[in-house]
Amino acid sequence: MSNSGEAELLHTFKGIPFTTRSSPELLKSLDSFDAREDDVLLVSYPKSGTHWLAGVITKLYNTQITITSPIEFGDISQLEELNKLSSKRIIPTHLDYNMLPPNFKSKKCKMIYISRNPKDTAVSMFHYYRDNPNLPTVDTWPAFFDLFLKGNVVCGSWFDHFLSWEEHEDEKNILFLFYEDMKKDLPKVVKEISLFLNLNVSDNDIQDICKKSSFSEMKNDTEKENNDPNHTVCALTSNRRLIFRKGAVGDWKNYFTPKQNIRFQEIFNEKMKLSKM
Ligand code: A3P
Repeated sequence: MSNSGEAELLHTFKGIPFTTRSSPELLKSLDSFDAREDDVLLVSYPKSGTHWLAGVITKLYNTQITITSPIEFGDISQLEELNKLSSKRIIPTHLDYNMLPPNFKSKKCKMIYISRNPKDTAVSMFHYYRDNPNLPTVDTWPAFFDLFLKGNVVCGSWFDHFLSWEEHEDEKNILFLFYEDMKKDLPKVVKEISLFLNLNVSDNDIQDICKKSSFSEMKNDTEKENNDPNHTVCALTSNRRLIFRKGAVGDWKNYFTPKQNIRFQEIFNEKMKLSKM
């Protein structure tokens, strides 16, 4: 990090770094949050395609839904705002499975977890750290690479986050998705999401949704929008213009040195040895 003042942008709760946009009081109150049975959670580690997934889901419903701000965003009053919403709630979150309000688990709410190759996630997050004033700045890619591997970044270790959710992959109310699959065959993934959410969507509508959810369409839409600082899909910024950077698979190859790649792979193999990934 470039200076100590910026370290104040982060605080730690239960061992995980959060930005000050998630107040400690709110994080402490999450356990008592009142989930509803028809809530849907959109879960991700930052930079995994959260906004893309949220964009697709908004277009899938033809009934009244609200994509709320993340459950961990803001101060304690945000929880009351969420409680007041009368429409069906689609709730984004970057929370680790263990930090999720227990009510979502006991009520078997539907949850969609989107994941992405951690190497591309790291590169995307490096740019986010550089562009997003809510995050400490990092001067160089090698410095960020070290922070990422140590899990010393906002939302903690990618490995811990992924593993905490993967453990529950077989539960019927949880759908696991991969960014790379969305890039490869978006209509197939959109169909999968619609079946999971019990939505009846025609093939024509799916094609239309995919067209409107392309990287270029979503980026263009964002340029035209006005930012609402009180609403966001990612607790780390309300500025959607910071989100649509490159939208590619394999950008890590432009950043990782061969030595970094070997080091990453060693840590990946060690941490993920019990994973099915
Ligand atoms: P890059 O920084 O690699 O471009 P999140 O929404 O979780 O913050 O993830 C942001 C990443 O998803 C960014 O990756 C962004 O470009 C990418 N993304 C957003 N919308 C996309 C889309 N429609 N198609 C492909 N990638 C998209």
